[in-house]
Amino acid sequence: MKLTVVTDADMAAVDLSRIDLFDATYHAEGDPHSAWAFMREHAPLHRSELPDGRAFFNITRYHDACRVLGNHREFTSERGSLLSQLGHDDAASGQMLVATDPPRHSELRRPLNKMFTGRGLARSEDRIREAVRSLVRGALAEPVWDVAQQATMLPMAIAGALMDLPEPDWADLVQWTGMAAAPQDPVFTIRNPHATLAIAHHQLFEYFATQYEARRGTPGDDAFRLLMTMRDGELSREEVVVNCYSLLLGANATTPHTVAGTLLALMEHPEQLQAVRENAELVPALVEEGLRWTSPASSFLRYAVQDVEIAGGVVPEGDPVAVWVGSANRDSEIFPEPYRFDVHRADNRHIAFGYGSHYCLGATVARLTLRMFFEEVLDRFEEFAPAGKPQHLVSNFVAGFTSLPVRAVPHRVQAVAGR
Ligand code: HEM
Repeated sequence: MKLTVVTDADMAAVDLSRIDLFDATYHAEGDPHSAWAFMREHAPLHRSELPDGRAFFNITRYHDACRVLGNHREFTSERGSLLSQLGHDDAASGQMLVATDPPRHSELRRPLNKMFTGRGLARSEDRIREAVRSLVRGALAEPVWDVAQQATMLPMAIAGALMDLPEPDWADLVQWTGMAAAPQDPVFTIRNPHATLAIAHHQLFEYFATQYEARRGTPGDDAFRLLMTMRDGELSREEVVVNCYSLLLGANATTPHTVAGTLLALMEHPEQLQAVRENAELVPALVEEGLRWTSPASSFLRYAVQDVEIAGGVVPEGDPVAVWVGSANRDSEIFPEPYRFDVHRADNRHIAFGYGSHYCLGATVARLTLRMFFEEVLDRFEEFAPAGKPQHLVSNFVAGFTSLPVRAVPHRVQAVAGR
């Protein structure tokens, strides 16, 4: 997916009747940003119909996106939140955090919040720093560093620590969560996308069920055991398993793409890299702009609870609505010059982590990880240059990369010392 400027000519070339935003390949090879820009201006409530008769509405403007994501009385998550599930209600409805509406959602979420923020998270800071350093050391060892590939281990190491998952399992877990998030991508497809998704779900659910049994009656203060003991063990094994799945998918499917996409943006905008180099206090702003720019969680689905008037039209009761997060984050009503990557952007109210009660549980840990990553790379490397063509992920759910080869030149002192 092209992440740069949408011009008037790009907009003029958009023919919505020929654009299929459901098609995962379109997101890798096409130009969804031009389509979204056109839709924000001319069709803010656009209905897409698939050849098999399934249909959904597209929401592309920022305020509409916040309303759909944030108002469960109008738009429910209980039938599933992934566009790929269109037409099949989520089997984990009412059990898995992301497929549950308040008040049940708040009951599940409240105990977890503590573990993913503040003191709960502070305990994991050293492990996060170590995972970041290990990723960055990889760049020192290789002449060409594939940031997109290597970064997949970063959230895994962090979620692995937070959930107390054995390190030898991490590589498999990364593979299975990759298959679950992007079953259409040739890097992940086994036989066909449908089979790929089924295999990934089977492996992950079986894995977490085995881990559940191994943990019974054993002490620990990790997120896995917290789910098992939450509210006096109120959650069934299945409920714990689907929430572990969702936690790991949430972490693994997203964070690496912001790492890679932000680094690419810095290579394409050397003056922004220079600004952050000259003032390390800009790193948190770089992270926010990188999140807005990459918006790796690209779409989320909701279903209208009643007829809802929105964006100049009506979504009939029961109809699905896809919110395009990457589009909302380029809405010029909110972000002046939205196609400028700008680390000085004031009031960066992006919704890369969603909006409302489902606001990303891992947002604090993701921000911390991204901040540490950019602190480390700026500290260790003098220059970055593209060393090959980026490969975009084939997915209508996650926007990102399967490959981003980079030549990273260490600061002279470190190169000599072999740090
Ligand atoms: C750059 C990194 C990340 C991005 C862009 C991201 C994005 C999002 C978004 C947009 C949502 C809202 C879903 C909805 O409204 O239906 C969400 C929810 C969620 N995320 Fe993340 N996420 C990231 C990292 C993480 C990490 C590191 C974890 C776990 C450690 C995580 C776990 C979750 C969970 C469990 C939910 C469901 C929350 C709920 O339904 O209450 N995410 N994320």
